[in-house]
Amino acid sequence: MDTEGQFKGAKVTVIGAAGGIGQPLSLMLKANFKVGKLSLYDVSGTVSGVAMDLSHIDTPAHIEWFTPKNGGLKKALTGSEYVLVPAGVPRKPGMSRNDLFKINAGICAELATAIAEFSPNATTLVISNPVNSTVPVFVEILKRHGVFNARKLFGVTTLDSVRADTFLHRIKPEMKWGLIRVVGGHSGDTIVPLLSTVLGTEMNKVPREKIQAVVHHTQYGGDEVIKAKNGGGSSTLSMAYAANKFFCTVLNGRDQFSKDHVGCTYVCLEDESINGVSELKGLLRTFKKDQNLDMKYFAIPCVFGQHGIERVMYECLEKLHPYEKEMVEICCDSLPGNYEKGLEFTRTY
Ligand code: NAD
Ligand code: LMR
Repeated sequence: MDTEGQFKGAKVTVIGAAGGIGQPLSLMLKANFKVGKLSLYDVSGTVSGVAMDLSHIDTPAHIEWFTPKNGGLKKALTGSEYVLVPAGVPRKPGMSRNDLFKINAGICAELATAIAEFSPNATTLVISNPVNSTVPVFVEILKRHGVFNARKLFGVTTLDSVRADTFLHRIKPEMKWGLIRVVGGHSGDTIVPLLSTVLGTEMNKVPREKIQAVVHHTQYGGDEVIKAKNGGGSSTLSMAYAANKFFCTVLNGRDQFSKDHVGCTYVCLEDESINGVSELKGLLRTFKKDQNLDMKYFAIPCVFGQHGIERVMYECLEKLHPYEKEMVEICCDSLPGNYEKGLEFTRTY
């Protein structure tokens, strides 16, 4: 807060700002009165037009733009409190998120290096796919530069919660919005919607095929959009909405709001000084075939505070419906292969 009790406008950098997600996300950030400066960066020169367009909007955020030819990442990142990263290639029909890794891992490593150098204290939101593998790339590069903070590095999985909420409402319109927890990761069977978090004991009254249909739709919703766009890319508008929603949750934590400061995100589980992390790792061991190996990454609801993650809500895994327990077991089998891919990449980068 500044001296008059007003929230000080944060500098926010969007990397990949000229893209399908970057543009609508930047629009939503420009409309946010808590954003003081919006720094748009892209390798594409079209970012200058995006910046000009947004600069006509009557909100306080000052718009600036950069490309590698004009100021580069140094100018875009210096002084940034938040960095949002929707840079990289999206899927086309027939591709898996893993198919994006080869290109996007290199992009993420380059961006993480720049963040370490120019905005080492920034809170970073990673959107680039495959999130299950790109987040470890960010973590390892930030660690290499001695600036990794597990409370401030997030893989954005909010679209999964948004989808689960939307699809469950189609069969249960009376449900309260925004309460579904989706844990695990952001790809196929690593996406585990915990519908019992809102259905409670009703879970057994809803026909199992309907529950399974909501789960499947949430896990493979991304494929449905790619098919509908027919070569024109993947989810951009719903993703921009979801990223902005998550960003607002993190800001609510920073500003110590007692409401709307909880959200699911894919995080590194290395820092056991974070409240709830060791309990979460202990619980996850019970879902694994090889109980000697700890899970290194997992998406979990987190409570956000002034300095990022304040607590991970491990308790959401304590009383699962048998169907959900089965899904967490499957996820715990698949996810390590995904994050190890990111870790392996950084060993030779
Ligand atoms: P897009 O191709 O429309 O936009 C990507 C932008 O990134 C482009 O403007 C491109 O110029 C820019 N870019 C590429 N390399 C860059 C670099 N080195 N530095 C800066 N900018 C760079 O793609 P999109 O639809 O916006 O998707 C972006 C990424 O987000 C993809 O990897 C996609 O799979 C992912 N995504 C994630 C989620 C999620 O839930 N986390 C949801 C949807 C999409
Ligand atoms: C999504 O879930 O829509 C995104 O991860 C994009 C994709 O490739 O499916």
